[in-house]
Amino acid sequence: MAENLLDFSNKTVLVTGGSSGIGRAVSLGFARQGAQVVIGDMNEAGSKETVEMIKKENGQAHFVKTDVGNSQSVKALIEETVRVYGGLDCAFNNAGILHAPQPIADFDEAAFDRVLHIDLKGTFLCLKYELQYMVKKGKGAIVNTASVAGLLPEGGMAAYVAAKHGVIGLTKTAAIENANHGIRVNALAPGWVRTPMTKAWDEDKQFNAKIKAAAPLHRGAEPEEMVGAVLYLCSDAASYTTGQTFPIDGAQTIRGLLPYEG
Ligand SMILES: NC(=O)c1ccc[n+]([C@@H]2O[C@H](COP(=O)([O-])OP(=O)(O)OC[C@H]3O[C@@H](n4cnc5c(N)ncnc54)[C@H](O)[C@@H]3O)[C@@H](O)[C@H]2O)c1
Repeated sequence: MAENLLDFSNKTVLVTGGSSGIGRAVSLGFARQGAQVVIGDMNEAGSKETVEMIKKENGQAHFVKTDVGNSQSVKALIEETVRVYGGLDCAFNNAGILHAPQPIADFDEAAFDRVLHIDLKGTFLCLKYELQYMVKKGKGAIVNTASVAGLLPEGGMAAYVAAKHGVIGLTKTAAIENANHGIRVNALAPGWVRTPMTKAWDEDKQFNAKIKAAAPLHRGAEPEEMVGAVLYLCSDAASYTTGQTFPIDGAQTIRGLLPYEG
């Protein structure tokens, strides 16, 4: 085993959803440990900014415009990653979207389909094409971004909860299918993280107070607080860990999510 277990020198890491929030923080984290980072994202401006941030620190990064909900787009992302950096060692399947809170009885079907398509099928497509490559190589490590909403129900969030429970199911299935191929697959389950996705909630004083009360650490996380877990799970330090979900949530899942008042 390497002396520095978190050394990603000469490793190529793919991060989806790297244009902002958790994906940007994790992209920077991997680059700081020597990785060549490929960002697959719909958001061109944000992703280019992340690439610039990495290059400013003398790191290596490349952007590929990608829609994780589109099979051809994800296939092309993996092909370009291998073409540009010569391989694919680790992947952080993190791109995702949220929906407005609404009870199931009144749930907008198009919003339900959209969230399942990006958050669940998008993760499936990334896994599919990453695994096709990694199985041939006989090695790899993958982390999927689930959520505390993948572990517990949250009133008003049916599509997101269903998608993120699905991401955890996909993670476990991919782990057992690929254990004999030298590939590990785990999931990250963040609690409330202050990113563009949660900006409106962050600015809603009442909601903000409730969410802080729900987490025994009494605050939301900064995106940077997700980095250590993802790097650890992708590293040799986690060589005996697969099929698991790691809540990084200020102990929110110990206490339970927010009470539903709808
Ligand atoms: N912020 C939180 O509190 C929180 C909590 C739990 C889980 N998560 C999950 O973390 C992940 C990252 O979210 P974030 O909070 O950093 O939000 P964010 O909005 O900053 O990041 C989401 C990223 O996904 C990208 N994206 C969206 N649709 C895409 C598509 N079709 N193809 C490619 N890229 C696409 C966006 O451009 C963006 O870069 C998501 O999967 C989210 O569900 C976030």
